[in-house]
Amino acid sequence: MISIPSAERIGRLKYAIRNIAASAAEIEAQGRKVLRLNIGDPLLYDFQTPPALVEAVVQAMRDGKNWYAPSYGIPVAREAIAASLTAYGAPVAPSSVFVTSGASEAIEAALTAMLEPGDSVLTPTPGYPLYTAILAKLNAEERPYRLDPGAHWQPDLAQIEASIGPRTRAIVVINPNNPTGALWGEETLRGILDLARRRGLVVLADEVYYPLTYGPSAPRMASLVDDVPIIAFDSMSKAYLATGWRVGWMSLHHASLDGVRAAISRILDARLCSPTPPQFAIPVALAGGRAHVDDAMGRLRERRDLLVSRLNAIPGVWCEAPGGAFYIMAKVELPAGRTDEEFVLDLLRTEGVLTVHGSGFGMAPKDGWMRIVYLPPVEVISAACDAIERTVARWSR
Ligand SMILES: Cc1ncc(COP(=O)(O)O)c(C=O)c1O
Repeated sequence: MISIPSAERIGRLKYAIRNIAASAAEIEAQGRKVLRLNIGDPLLYDFQTPPALVEAVVQAMRDGKNWYAPSYGIPVAREAIAASLTAYGAPVAPSSVFVTSGASEAIEAALTAMLEPGDSVLTPTPGYPLYTAILAKLNAEERPYRLDPGAHWQPDLAQIEASIGPRTRAIVVINPNNPTGALWGEETLRGILDLARRRGLVVLADEVYYPLTYGPSAPRMASLVDDVPIIAFDSMSKAYLATGWRVGWMSLHHASLDGVRAAISRILDARLCSPTPPQFAIPVALAGGRAHVDDAMGRLRERRDLLVSRLNAIPGVWCEAPGGAFYIMAKVELPAGRTDEEFVLDLLRTEGVLTVHGSGFGMAPKDGWMRIVYLPPVEVISAACDAIERTVARWSR
């Protein structure tokens, strides 16, 4: 039988967060229970979408608003997003706002609209693997810039600058960060904006975790300057606890992005629209308060504190308390010649605890990093820490 070849560039496309879940499914198929600390979905645990937003979507469906929406989003949603950003201090017109199927689709459309094959983009490492995957699809080059675990996962501006090549077009900033949970302050953000201004880069500001911080949020990048092209990504998924609705958006800040805006429009026209009824929750969400965020962060703080103190009490394990989101990167001292993926798979197969190896986010396999999602209740986190402790003890014998 002839085998149909698949596209060579897709071989570079991996998404460790879901790829590793296949191994967990095998274990569950054997009738064993798996504690899933691998995926950043609050709705899988004891968090719920604010009822007023559910009402808005149900009402839209009951009112027969089940048609194809305009490609760039329903006008009331685009207007609400633009008004909210403008009031915040990041002025934007509704015509520069696009509603998409999650921030994921916005990120893909923006990169597709901007890049030629061979162009490059600076991405934080460890970083969110969607960027790696899209750049592989576009035959574009990923130029990682390192976040330093010894310096609270901050970037080194000189290293970023040294990584810029002749075809580098943009820099990705994820704040608060996935997978480190780090929160960068205004000074770091201004440093990156200055660099982008000097070197003619577009800033891709991924702010899907914006309100999910333990102290004040860091400023949105588009509120800090008005002379740097910024494409900001946001979403209902995390900040409004509605991952499965697939509603996100992007806003384009600066007139130099007009050509990109036209290209994004063409891309979005061709895919018709993002799901219509959930878009009706956007104005309600943006007009509502942040009670659901305060409630979520209160519970997450307890979970984070438990995880950080338990992990740091295990000899050979280290992590830093994250400032936002719901992820932590923990480092395990590995014996020479072993990899983070082997450790994570062993933890899964012997203890039934699913985490994601740091190399899935671009870390060196020998460095022993793993990303842990601390969304589950404290009993689950405590059981997972017991399991990590036993596995580390076994590995250090
Ligand atoms: C940094 C980052 N950006 C974007 C996304 C995608 O979010 P959405 O559900 O809006 O597509 C995620 C999801 O985990 C993320 O962590």
